[in-house]
Amino acid sequence: MADGVKQVTSRDSFTSGLGVIAATLGSAVGLGNIWKFPSLTGMNGGAAFIIVYILAAFMAGVPVMIAELMLGRRSRSDALSTFRVLHPKGGQWGLIGAAGVLSAFLILAFYTEVAGWVVAYVFKSASGGVLSTDPKVTSAVFEKLIADPYQAVFWQCFVLVCVGAIIVAGVSKGIEKTTKRLMPVLLVILVMIGVRSLMLPGAAAGLNFLFRPDFSKVTGGVLLTAMGLAFFKLSVGMGTMITYGSYFTKEENLPVTALRVMLADLAVSILAGIAIFPAVFTYGFKPEAGPSLLFITIPAVFSQIPFGNAFVVLFFVLGAIAATGAMLSIMEVPVAYLHQRFSMPRLHATALTVILLALIGSTAALSSSVLAGVKPFGMTFFDLYDFLTSNLLMPIGGFFICLFAGWVWGPQKVKAALSNDGELRNSAVINLFLFLLKYVAPVSIGIILLRGLKIL
Ligand code: PHE
Repeated sequence: MADGVKQVTSRDSFTSGLGVIAATLGSAVGLGNIWKFPSLTGMNGGAAFIIVYILAAFMAGVPVMIAELMLGRRSRSDALSTFRVLHPKGGQWGLIGAAGVLSAFLILAFYTEVAGWVVAYVFKSASGGVLSTDPKVTSAVFEKLIADPYQAVFWQCFVLVCVGAIIVAGVSKGIEKTTKRLMPVLLVILVMIGVRSLMLPGAAAGLNFLFRPDFSKVTGGVLLTAMGLAFFKLSVGMGTMITYGSYFTKEENLPVTALRVMLADLAVSILAGIAIFPAVFTYGFKPEAGPSLLFITIPAVFSQIPFGNAFVVLFFVLGAIAATGAMLSIMEVPVAYLHQRFSMPRLHATALTVILLALIGSTAALSSSVLAGVKPFGMTFFDLYDFLTSNLLMPIGGFFICLFAGWVWGPQKVKAALSNDGELRNSAVINLFLFLLKYVAPVSIGIILLRGLKIL
């Protein structure tokens, strides 16, 4: 163990390499793969955008992910205590962890709302309630759901309680066990819908929309989008990966794990695009982004396919499964903190987190009804939380994590940590990582952030 590191005894953790991958990939794969990645790709230059995204992921996303996993595994602590444990004299660095806990609350506030709609749609589509080939009808169904304050709050609380129940069960028996079961199901459903979609007459047009490389679309703004997407997709910049890293075993090869997760997550995103767009184009719909694609277009499109009803249900089950792994990893951030810092039993820490989230989250849930007119900074609470986290807190968090790991904690400790104290012969990989961590990632994040905030 590195000097100065206080180890917490009898800490729950992931038990196998497979469990590590399931939980970490489960965090990365989420609603982002279904409604952000495919449509952003189609609208921003197809294969050209995928190339830019991969560059952003390699230059910033993956280095921050490796750094977070590394810091967490060394400290064996939650996102906030990690900085205190690894650098007892540098109290100000703990602010990264504090911002991470805040981000976790803000992301969950809107993410659980979208997940609530997805779960509501599983039930509604199974009972035939959302199925219509007419987008006006599917649109009216969706509007009715989000404009009803009781339903919106109910489904969000339902999701919060379900996720909380898994979190209470613990890291190995809750998070690891659940994600290990869910990830294979997710892949099977995705491939099933993908194959069905590829058999449709509009398959070529759909694939053309998704993959046709158009470099003229790649502007400065698109670079920002790709970088923000890389942070959101890879769950980095807010302490999730620090917290998960603290549950990793000593043997895990961190750079390899991070790379695998990034590539597998990319594959899921592309598969999701292959599942969605051929169907959308076959029936002449617009490839729009966001909630309208998920809740209005998908039900209308798939209702036209023979046995399409079953596919609509499957599609929302897929969304619910994807969202679960992501929500577990976000909720674990404050729960791990309360559990470790205040020695709260997991049950109490989770209950407190769920209650706080129900309160904060309801402001997002009511954004389309009672609170629709309340717009701090010109945005509804829902949009505000999304903007604050993806465009500000996560990139800023990632920037300071690079500075802390690369310059304060320093190359010697990084080398020891990533070679598993000399067990792995991976010095070339570590040197490349250090270069990305110390220079490439912070500079590119910094420039993109300043441009995003219109300061540059
Ligand atoms: N990566 C998740 C998704 O794509 C979202 C997420 C963000 C999860 C931040 C954890 C932390 O949906």
